[in-house]
Amino acid sequence: MGKVIVVTSGKGGVGKTTSSAALGAALAQNGDKVVVVDFDVGLRNLDLVMGAERRVVYDLVNVIQGEAKLTQALIRDKRVETLYLLPASQTRDKDNLTPEGVEKVVASLKKAFDWVICDSPAGIERGATLAMRHADIAIVVTNPEVSSVRDSDRIIGLLDSKTLKAENGERMEKHLLLTRYDSTRAERGDMLKVDDVLEILSIPLLGIIPESMDVLRASNLGSPVTLADENSAPSRAYFDAVRRLRGEALPVTVPGERRSFFGKLFGRKAA
Ligand SMILES: Nc1ncnc2c1ncn2[C@@H]1O[C@H](COP(=O)(O)OP(=O)(O)O)[C@@H](O)[C@H]1O
Ligand SMILES: [Mg+2]
Repeated sequence: MGKVIVVTSGKGGVGKTTSSAALGAALAQNGDKVVVVDFDVGLRNLDLVMGAERRVVYDLVNVIQGEAKLTQALIRDKRVETLYLLPASQTRDKDNLTPEGVEKVVASLKKAFDWVICDSPAGIERGATLAMRHADIAIVVTNPEVSSVRDSDRIIGLLDSKTLKAENGERMEKHLLLTRYDSTRAERGDMLKVDDVLEILSIPLLGIIPESMDVLRASNLGSPVTLADENSAPSRAYFDAVRRLRGEALPVTVPGERRSFFGKLFGRKAA
């Protein structure tokens, strides 16, 4: 049985889709079988970031409504053969996602893949709660800004109450992925420092992804950054995050600084 990861956040535009694609690709680049599922119905972003927009025929809503088989909707990546995408619909609205439908699709995907990565819409509404519902692991994507951190706190509350794991009294494994981190701006006080974010959210740190033009360049090429440029700073940060996801105790370095967090922050509190 594969593991289900939800990539979630309170605020939009923090880097969920970018991170879903990059983490999914990085896991697949290591040989695992991965599917990245776009739950952002109405927006359809993930297929663009993964360079598959012209190959979308059927989507998640078609599968849920019985208009297509799962195998017809899955798109296999042209670069990494163990990487797949289940796209979202651009035209339907979120109400087309039913809890029963989502449950069936996720159950089938878990049987066929090592990792099922659910790219969630932002916020606390239906689409987001459906995306997190069946997760074994949650990655909370946060930018080093007060509003983003505050909204992440709310999402952590939802993860601990609205998911199947929570309802069954089990612990939801939660990780913080701090994205778009700019050490110069943090130094100037324009952004929150890593310690401040961790103080407020107190879930284990999966990684810090620097703000970087490499991400924009990759996304314009229709490629997850870990595929477009394996050695760029954001790619290295994503590859390291994947190693931690696999359970390795790897110190988290702060991009642009010599400091690293080890032990003290990563895995400090099994929230
Ligand atoms: N590390 C980064 N550096 C620079 N830009 C980034 C980074 N991560 C994400 N972005 C950009 O931020 C915007 C929002 O990212 P996206 O992944 O779509 O967020 P979300 O899915 O949370 O709405 C996109 O234009 C994306 O290219
Ligand atoms: Mg998105």
